[in-house]
Amino acid sequence: MNNLTRQQYAVKRQDRNKLNQHSSFLVWFTGLSGSGKSTLANLLEIELLSRGIHTYLLDGDNVRLGLNKDLSFSETDRTENIRRVGEVSKLMIDAGLVTIAAFISPFNADREKVKKSVGIENYIEIYVNTPIEVCIERDTKGLYEKAIKGEILNFTGISSPYEIPESPSLIINTSEIANDQAISKIINLVLVKLNQHD
Ligand code: ADX
Repeated sequence: MNNLTRQQYAVKRQDRNKLNQHSSFLVWFTGLSGSGKSTLANLLEIELLSRGIHTYLLDGDNVRLGLNKDLSFSETDRTENIRRVGEVSKLMIDAGLVTIAAFISPFNADREKVKKSVGIENYIEIYVNTPIEVCIERDTKGLYEKAIKGEILNFTGISSPYEIPESPSLIINTSEIANDQAISKIINLVLVKLNQHD
């Protein structure tokens, strides 16, 4: 970047990890709208809180109501949405938090960029692969009905693509396993990472 010099912070991530007595990293949920990402992300955060872990949750709908309120659902804007969330996640990891993100994040290239940007060792990817038929049937927000009628354009799974993750850390189908089973699988992965700090 032009005319910019990176400043060294006196207090570092390692100091915060030591203070918190756990490492910090990113747990990224990807999947269709209505697949169960937000539900699982919230349950995971409750579980971690009860274990005394410092966390923060970034959720698509909420981030799009604030930081990313200028972004649409075009491919370019989705890419920008995920890029910004990746940058925010990086800051949160540096702040010592186990960061949980729940975004459709339909494009492989965007997810790969986040993974690279936070560092592969700081990234857990959970693909919530609940089938679209189940998501449509649930239609918790009533958006699939509108998308099918053509009232919402570029809707993921209906009129906009979702690229299946190539190497997720875990795959969860919420129509096949109960939430508490899903959470215990996720916690197992998270616990391993939590203990990896210097
Ligand atoms: S992403 O594709 O850019 O990663 P993000 O996770 O931030 O999406 O936001 C998805 C949420 O926005 C959905 O859960 C849904 O509530 C809402 N939404 C509104 N319009 C759309 C659309 N065209 N496609 C997908 N989700 C939409």
